[in-house]
Amino acid sequence: MATYSLFFSFLALSFSLVLAADPSSIQDFCVADTATQVLVNGLACKDPKLVEANDFFFSGLHFVGNTSNAVGSTVTPVTVSQLPGLNTLGISLGRIDFAPWGINPPHTHPRATEIITVIDGTIEVGFVTSNPENRHINKVLQKGDVFVFPVDLVHYQRNVGYGNAAAIVALSSQNPGVITIANSVFGAVPDIAGDVLVKAFQLDKNLVANLQSKF
Ligand SMILES: *[C@@H]1O[C@H](CO)[C@@H](O)[C@H](O)[C@H]1NC(C)=O
Repeated sequence: MATYSLFFSFLALSFSLVLAADPSSIQDFCVADTATQVLVNGLACKDPKLVEANDFFFSGLHFVGNTSNAVGSTVTPVTVSQLPGLNTLGISLGRIDFAPWGINPPHTHPRATEIITVIDGTIEVGFVTSNPENRHINKVLQKGDVFVFPVDLVHYQRNVGYGNAAAIVALSSQNPGVITIANSVFGAVPDIAGDVLVKAFQLDKNLVANLQSKF
């Protein structure tokens, strides 16, 4: 009996410790060892004795990204894939460049809250709260302005100025992940059945087929 109650207390404790963020570090650092075959939650650690300054370093956010694409924006990520020293630290960075009227389409980060700082131009930002309210919260930001997108919520940015725009974003995960709504829904591989999307979005089946061909 005592064993059972201990077991259930342990279970309750385990559940109370489930957090929607990267687990905190229990050592100074754990630089990602990209060569290892070991699979863990995150990446295995490189031998600390072999770690060097460049493991904690990335260069390139001074470059303007190429925005010649359908949406007129590009993201230059600095996650654990580009900066191995980020492994287990629960943080990452990125730069977003926008052509005039370019957008960063509606998307979510399954593992991170995002905070954006405009470094050039004028950018409209917005996010939408969960069901049933689906409240759209948006604002136009100028250079130097900061805005936060709460974890997991669908959000977007749009350059509403006449020149280029750029922003630096910080995210609360070494590997925030990106779910772009249009790509997930219309670009799933293999396709989500057309009739599912026809009903879900109340669209004509030719329009659904057209959207599926684009993503
Ligand atoms: C930008 O990307 C477009 C489309 O991929 C490509 O054609 C063009 O050469 C690129 N421009 C530069 C400066 O790299």
